[in-house]
Amino acid sequence: MARITASVFTSHVPAIGAAMDLGKTHEPYWQPLFKGYEFSKQWLKENPPDVIFLVFNDHATAFSLDMIPTFAIGTADDYAVADEGWGPRPVPRVKGHAPLAAHIAQSVIQQDFDLTIVNKMDVDHGLTVPLSLMCGEKDPVQDAWPCPVIPFAVNVVQYPVPSGQRCLNLGKAIRKAVESYDEDLKVQIWGTGGMSHQLQGPRAGLINQAWDNAFLDQMIADPAALARKPHIDYVREAGSEGIELVMWLIARGAMADVAEPAGPAPTVRHRFYHVPASNTAVGHLILENA
Ligand code: DHB
Ligand code: FE
Repeated sequence: MARITASVFTSHVPAIGAAMDLGKTHEPYWQPLFKGYEFSKQWLKENPPDVIFLVFNDHATAFSLDMIPTFAIGTADDYAVADEGWGPRPVPRVKGHAPLAAHIAQSVIQQDFDLTIVNKMDVDHGLTVPLSLMCGEKDPVQDAWPCPVIPFAVNVVQYPVPSGQRCLNLGKAIRKAVESYDEDLKVQIWGTGGMSHQLQGPRAGLINQAWDNAFLDQMIADPAALARKPHIDYVREAGSEGIELVMWLIARGAMADVAEPAGPAPTVRHRFYHVPASNTAVGHLILENA
């Protein structure tokens, strides 16, 4: 049986990818940020998953504003790195896990979640920057990411976006789907985006450290309460793009302690917070299931 071994949460700021691609990680501006992921890279090497289920948002890259699925699961064998205007990032293509993805689609749709099936998709910084942060620099041709990735795209770009409660419940459904897959696979689920940031309008540059840290506390200790937080709180307190954080609840919902019957609380392996990276507050957690 496949199982969820851990969840990883991280921001996906595009400038972080650019800093890695352009060899700027040791510059004074970036050094403290990358230091916060040293533990994580080592942890991932020591706890290698067979598959990463990566929850992210597409930034009008693969899905234009012509068509916006609320939840979209990647069922392909492989995904190209998107060109977001400066050419594709020089990182490896992303290998998928079509059989597990198809199984999760089958199970989660039968649990009454409407997923869009995506057989072809270019993946943008929302997916590749978390991979870079956790796996380190990779040559686009010589190297590969450490394991297959199932991309799971959530609409947080155009309202209405899904509620925190729906995201938490979806995570629970994903957990059930993974646990009904008949092969011994260690699956990590990653929730990405956030933390506080606003990229446009009079409040551009907004960062709210107190709110972000309270969010991290609650993400660890009381996800059920966090799931009740309305969208307006995210937007008012964490900025218009702070709403990306609602995706973290999908990964959190797949952990043992919120399952029925409930398992033990996760172990917090790592917590990191840094301000700023570009316009954004960077938050990062690693939670392990017992
Ligand atoms: C920035 C952050 C994001 O999450 C994003 O998608 C684009 C830009 C930024 O801080 O610059
Ligand atoms: Fe974003």
